[in-house]
Amino acid sequence: MPKILVTRRTFDQAAAELRAAADVVIWEDADSPDQAGLIEAMRDVDALYAHITNQVDAAVMDAAPNLKVIAEFGVGYDNIDEAAATERGIAVCNTPGVLSESTADLAFALVMALGRRVNDLPGIVKNGEWGDFDPVGYLATDIHHKTLGIVGMGRIGAEVAKRGLGFDMEVIYHNRNPRNDVPGTIYVDSLEELLQRSDYVSLHNPLTPETTGLMSTEQFKLMKPTAYFVNTTRGPVVDQEALYEALKSGGIAGAAIDVTVPEPLPANHPLLTLDNCLVMPHVASATGDTRLKMAMMCVENVLAGIKGDWPPYCVNRDAIEGRSRLEGKA
Ligand code: DGY
Repeated sequence: MPKILVTRRTFDQAAAELRAAADVVIWEDADSPDQAGLIEAMRDVDALYAHITNQVDAAVMDAAPNLKVIAEFGVGYDNIDEAAATERGIAVCNTPGVLSESTADLAFALVMALGRRVNDLPGIVKNGEWGDFDPVGYLATDIHHKTLGIVGMGRIGAEVAKRGLGFDMEVIYHNRNPRNDVPGTIYVDSLEELLQRSDYVSLHNPLTPETTGLMSTEQFKLMKPTAYFVNTTRGPVVDQEALYEALKSGGIAGAAIDVTVPEPLPANHPLLTLDNCLVMPHVASATGDTRLKMAMMCVENVLAGIKGDWPPYCVNRDAIEGRSRLEGKA
């Protein structure tokens, strides 16, 4: 029987489908395995069903000489050393598409929460500080007819754009290449221009060496002091100290981030002392429907891999063809 390691608990339906085809070990502890624990658990594994909290490096791969497939639960797979996997002929897979809309929903909810002060005004009511009606009090920022700047116009960015257009926003974006399949959006060829023009900036580019630290002091300085910043992609795309300074000094009006460094963010982190910063616990894809679909895509990837077939959502197929550990059925 092939062996599958699943590094976090999963849906019953996913576990049942895996168990029908293989010996399955599901890591049930409250916390993910540390590196030594992961290496130890990899013994005799044919397929790894991995999560963002696992650093799947060469040592992890080498602990399982029969490893054929690594299926990441998520679209971002920056926690996997793709080059090391490719070198070893191991298929790397993810769950593209299925979480774009849910992630975009959260990004747009954060835009709305910041603009209309859904994050801070309820506190005034709760604290008994709700004073008499004040025509110039509790003022917020419109969403409609403001400029939404999207950094990274992939599947998720395009879904955020649709939401912005639906709210009559001007939607501008910066991307490696212009796209003409999201009508109504405006391409700007420099990040600088996007930051200067936007009332709301939302990040949607994957974490790569090029995007690490993309938003730092210089970039926050380009934003309007009235502008808001949203990050639902990966924590390291933002220099958090620079974000803290921008928020504290009034360089920008507010931020909402679903991803941080580290994750979880310690409760005494300076960002959590700021009233104009809203931090979510990395939940952009976390709806019941979407997470189940993601799990079932991982199951498809893993089951194909242990049978020696190409997994349907393989990201390195072109690169490993010829040296793949899969038997290579189409
Ligand atoms: C993703 O799919 O990349 C989510 O952030 C979960 O890791």
